[in-house]
Amino acid sequence: MIRERRVNVNGRQTRCLEAGAGWPLILLHAFPLNADMWRPQLEQVPDGWRFIAPDLRGFGPDARPTPGGSAPTMDDFADDVAGLMDALEMPEATIGGLSMGGYVAFALCRRAPERFTGIILADTRPHADTPAAREARREMIALAEKEGSAAVAERMLPKLVGQTTTDSRPEVIAVIRRMIESAPVAAITGALAAMLGRPDSTPELSAIGWPALVLVGAEDEITPPAHAEGMQRALTRSRLVVIPEAGHLSSLEAPAMFSAALADFLQSHI
Ligand code: MLT
Repeated sequence: MIRERRVNVNGRQTRCLEAGAGWPLILLHAFPLNADMWRPQLEQVPDGWRFIAPDLRGFGPDARPTPGGSAPTMDDFADDVAGLMDALEMPEATIGGLSMGGYVAFALCRRAPERFTGIILADTRPHADTPAAREARREMIALAEKEGSAAVAERMLPKLVGQTTTDSRPEVIAVIRRMIESAPVAAITGALAAMLGRPDSTPELSAIGWPALVLVGAEDEITPPAHAEGMQRALTRSRLVVIPEAGHLSSLEAPAMFSAALADFLQSHI
């Protein structure tokens, strides 16, 4: 059963979805979604584990605009997660993130490596943005400010999901569209600025000594399997699972296979 709770993190109310009991795995969501994207995994928590999925700053149903507030950095997102762990009296945890959630996990590896015992990196990449990617983010910021979240959903959806989902899973696309359309414009533009400014995390990879699981959808066009293979080779204690018939949002597109790979990894790591 999924539990929903509100936790005060450094003065900001943060919604968390939780399920299971045992060693904590914190799951960080993709851009521009929210903690609800982890519901399929929260429905299937392996024995001995407690999954916690927070909304990142600005996202989720509790999001309130912070007028005049400056755009967050990836380090701010990471410090929010560390603050959540403090509020939950959780000195250590396993960390996992999909895409932007992975970028936040890398920032946590830099800022608080002593607090983690394992890592799951799904459909993500350690590199900083290229100049062309930064330009595309600036265009997306302009689009969000001019036309709102629905225009962002329309622009992003074709790339966020794989061909199989495009062809045969309209219900999954509808769930993703709803989540993106509900994201406040300020959260979208803030996260875009944070992603645009994030540093290269490749040097962190060889320093990650904990067990690592790299997951990627076979049809992921944003962070394709070749990137995941390179990342996995750089991680000393890691395994790679390629999820067939899934794109960039593999946990939502092929939830059963994603959860099975996750459970298999976590059970060997407990
Ligand atoms: C995500 O899924 O979080 C985004 O595709 C990440 C990105 O735009 O780099």
